[in-house]
Amino acid sequence: MSISYLNGTWQPVEDARISVLDRGFLFGDGVYEVIPVYNKKPFTLDRHLKRLLNSIDEINLTSPYDIKGWTTLIGEAIDRSGEESASLYLQITRGADVKRIHIYPEKVVPTVFIMVTGVPSKREISPYEVITLDDYRWSRGHIKTVSLIAACMLKNEAITKGVNDAILIRDGVVTESTSSNVFVVLNGTIVTPPKSGHLLFGITRDVVIELALQNGLPVEERQITHEELMEASEIFITSSSHEAWPVGVINEKTIGNGEGGVIWQEVDRLFQAFKQKS
Ligand code: PDD
Repeated sequence: MSISYLNGTWQPVEDARISVLDRGFLFGDGVYEVIPVYNKKPFTLDRHLKRLLNSIDEINLTSPYDIKGWTTLIGEAIDRSGEESASLYLQITRGADVKRIHIYPEKVVPTVFIMVTGVPSKREISPYEVITLDDYRWSRGHIKTVSLIAACMLKNEAITKGVNDAILIRDGVVTESTSSNVFVVLNGTIVTPPKSGHLLFGITRDVVIELALQNGLPVEERQITHEELMEASEIFITSSSHEAWPVGVINEKTIGNGEGGVIWQEVDRLFQAFKQKS
């Protein structure tokens, strides 16, 4: 049973209840963050809070807390959970109005929800098999919104086709995966698509780029064509829940020996070392 916070009340997540008039429920009108917790500490919290405040701002919501307020609340959630290693989910919606109407209400209190779920501290890595799918999501991908039906449809299409996930292609170039960013290795260089409205500005993505550059690994942020993706010597995805995770097979083609390549291994080693220091 995991602990949750809902508008001032701490309770087991199974007991938390919201109004059916909550705009998060009716419109997907809200934003969220997923923050990894290692050794009882939120990882790269400053970056997650900066992105959260930006998402809140982008949808014209007013944050009920400043950075200090969010930090205190998140600290309390981790303490109360008692978990060493966890995933902290934080969601804020525009709150419950008195009727269903598209126009933003003026005097509605936002709904704040946090849950902390324990995860095993040791990762069991099994490389992903993926397919490519057409990216039909919207073009405000940098906003971490809870309106995730397109991502769910794409993920489930991949699962139905017997693979783990999909790498999304828009206008012939890679954007990201359904809930992670994409990196490839081309001629020894780590390449990832540049920031745009077609992808989330992943925190893990930024950390991986910084660590690679600091350690002399060449990195380019540039568009990756579908053809380049298929020819890459390595592919890996990054997210708060997967860290850097290898892709072994794409569209039934095995990449290298299918186990994750040497560059991914080096990136993962740097990432684990950075985690230890954080
Ligand atoms: N997903 N792209 C998308 C569409 C995502 O949903 C995520 C995160 C990422 C990676 O971002 P970060 O490195 O900051 O976690 C990229 C989270 C983990 C989720 O929805 O569960």
